[in-house]
Amino acid sequence: MENTLKALGGVKNPQTGKTLSEEARWVNTEANENGQVIITYKRDGISPASKRKIEDEIISSLADKYKEDKVLVKTVSADASSPSGASSSEKPTSAHANLKVGHGVNGNKKRIPGVNKVIAVSSCKGGVGKSTVSVNLALTLKEKGYSVGILDADIYGPSMPILLNMKGQKPQSTPEKKIKPLEAFGMSFISFGLFINDEDPVIWRGPMLGGVLNQFFFDTDWGKLDYLIVDLPPGTGDTQLSLVQNTEVDGVIVVSTPQNLAIADTIKGLKMFQQVNTPIIGMVENMAYFAPDDSDKKYFIFGEKGVEKVAKAQNVPFLGAIPLEIQMRKSSDEGAPYMTDSANKSRPGWKSYSDIAEKVVKITAGEKKGILNKLFN
Ligand SMILES: Nc1ncnc2c1ncn2[C@@H]1O[C@H](COP(=O)(O)OP(=O)(O)O)[C@@H](O)[C@H]1O
Ligand SMILES: [Mg+2]
Repeated sequence: MENTLKALGGVKNPQTGKTLSEEARWVNTEANENGQVIITYKRDGISPASKRKIEDEIISSLADKYKEDKVLVKTVSADASSPSGASSSEKPTSAHANLKVGHGVNGNKKRIPGVNKVIAVSSCKGGVGKSTVSVNLALTLKEKGYSVGILDADIYGPSMPILLNMKGQKPQSTPEKKIKPLEAFGMSFISFGLFINDEDPVIWRGPMLGGVLNQFFFDTDWGKLDYLIVDLPPGTGDTQLSLVQNTEVDGVIVVSTPQNLAIADTIKGLKMFQQVNTPIIGMVENMAYFAPDDSDKKYFIFGEKGVEKVAKAQNVPFLGAIPLEIQMRKSSDEGAPYMTDSANKSRPGWKSYSDIAEKVVKITAGEKKGILNKLFN
């Protein structure tokens, strides 16, 4: 570690021109079992812009010892109210966008400038089709003429890059140091999966989530969007809570499958969003029945209308049932989403998405009751 400290000797505080060593700011350097090196310094009095510069300097100083994505920069502060957190960076020298890490919760809800509606897609369990629903709903809205973005916030299983055939692509940063979303099927798109390697340990991801989400929302150049669809990680943990506490979310869509309808969990999820005043747009029943390719029959393998009943009991809208179709699964694996293939137009799933999207448009438009409505009604 001494060598590491030596390599860092030239890193300066851009605000004073003095080195961090001269200002006695170094706290710790340690390597972990994942081959990462964690550098901690005292941040007091250092502005966000300077913090970014220091981070870049640290990473380039260590460039011949550690690959840039193995360097994690943490800050601590004597003043508990000032922000602190860890940061990991991609390439400091290129135009690749960087991710900063921290937990990013401050409790002040912010709107994303230029984004009209933020819609989060949530579920209490994984594997119920949240990502499939997010992508196909987004595409349906786009087909209806809206400008749409997709934010893949599923840090544990970011499947969006595969669904949208974007695996291995690296987002660039704009001259203003914002993340530039990728473009997929006419939609803007960003995913945690674009910034990590598949083999990065999951344990490392949890603490990153809040800060990363904040960056995906507020340090990403979304431009003007009618809808930003956010594919959440499963469950209703701290991450979902910190999302709705930091970001003005216009509504949540809760996806469930009939067999995964753990009612207690679903209700817990609904309650959490309601408690933080995030409107529930409604519930979607995915894999509601099996719709084979070779007949119009519907096979209700897990019973009928389970999710609809829960929606009714909880007094939230039921948005619709999406059938289990072979093509729905195939198209996802092939990176050519179901709703981009007009061969599916005659399928029941196509109609489901179309109907659900229409309801979503209507319901979220109705949420805009704000000041104007009060003034004019
Ligand atoms: N309606 C459906 N018909 C057929 N397969 C589906 C359907 N919905 C989801 N799948 C498949 O189920 C699996 C899990 O879906 P996914 O969207 O990744 O779930 P989640 O995001 O909730 O973990 C994927 O293989 C997906 O292609
Ligand atoms: Mg998913």
